[in-house]
Amino acid sequence: MRPFSITFSRQFSSSRTIRYDHILVSDPANGVKLVTLNRPNALNALFTPLVLELNDALKSADSDTSIGAIVLTGSVRAFAAGADIKEMKDKSFADVFTHDFIKNWSDATLIKKPIIAAVNGYALGGGCEMAMMADILYAGENAVFGQPEIKLGIIPGAGGTQRLARAIGKAKAMDIILTGKTFTAHEAYNWGLAAAVFPPTDLVAEAVKTAASIASYGPIAVHAAKEAINYGLQVGLDQGLTYERRLFHSLFATADQKEGMAAFAEKRAPEFKGE
Ligand code: CAA
Repeated sequence: MRPFSITFSRQFSSSRTIRYDHILVSDPANGVKLVTLNRPNALNALFTPLVLELNDALKSADSDTSIGAIVLTGSVRAFAAGADIKEMKDKSFADVFTHDFIKNWSDATLIKKPIIAAVNGYALGGGCEMAMMADILYAGENAVFGQPEIKLGIIPGAGGTQRLARAIGKAKAMDIILTGKTFTAHEAYNWGLAAAVFPPTDLVAEAVKTAASIASYGPIAVHAAKEAINYGLQVGLDQGLTYERRLFHSLFATADQKEGMAAFAEKRAPEFKGE
């Protein structure tokens, strides 16, 4: 078996689609990168080689100026059924502590461009955590969310206790994490975790449509909006409001602000350049 340091070396086909062993990467619409977890035999269970590929694809999309938004999805049966239990089961405390196991699973949160998670099927454990790292979560009607780590003698380790509690509140997060029970797409929507619910067969197309819409706007403003929301969720209201206003002020230094407002006044479509 090849060591995973070289497993994810990128190969460019003639159509310039990037191929990996455990994910698929494509460009389904102008300005949109679609990353599909593709480990069907294990319900997209997250193991190190897959996570390294995913991080590589996300970083590559983030530095590609032709891309404005990213969609992350799995299969109709599973977004991801969690961390790979078979990979983890023999690890010792020294193994996981020394190598800070799963720290780099959160690299998706370092991506500047918006990420939309399109979740069909199981999003359990690390799969649910990965979906919650996205900026927008769309759920297929068949989605099954949960943090069942308690049944394995552990707790969520990639943000589950923190992001789920912030998204749906302490009471429901405690209920879900302490019991390991699952919740549905409509519950995720009603509780504020999912932004929308779609039929499973429409889900990815809807996510791509939203991503294309975001990608059509000025990338500096999109980046600033994402940064302001995420920063505000980590600080007090006054600090967040000041940060928002300073970012708002700074956008008046961009050509995109001049273009966006001129286009409105001239009743034409704006042409944003990211300048
Ligand atoms: N790790 C490794 N393999 C997994 C897996 C996982 N998390 N989830 C599913 N698989 C594998 C199964 O072992 C099985 O492989 P084999 O055919 O080789 O036996 C294959 O995927 C299909 O799974 P099932 O036969 O179990 O499918 P099912 O439809 O009967 O059940 C399921 C689906 C309810 C999702 C069940 O597979 C399941 O409970 N999976 C584990 C879910 C879980 O506990 N996730 C949390 C992991 S811990 C974690 O994520 C920690 C963290 O915070 C980072």
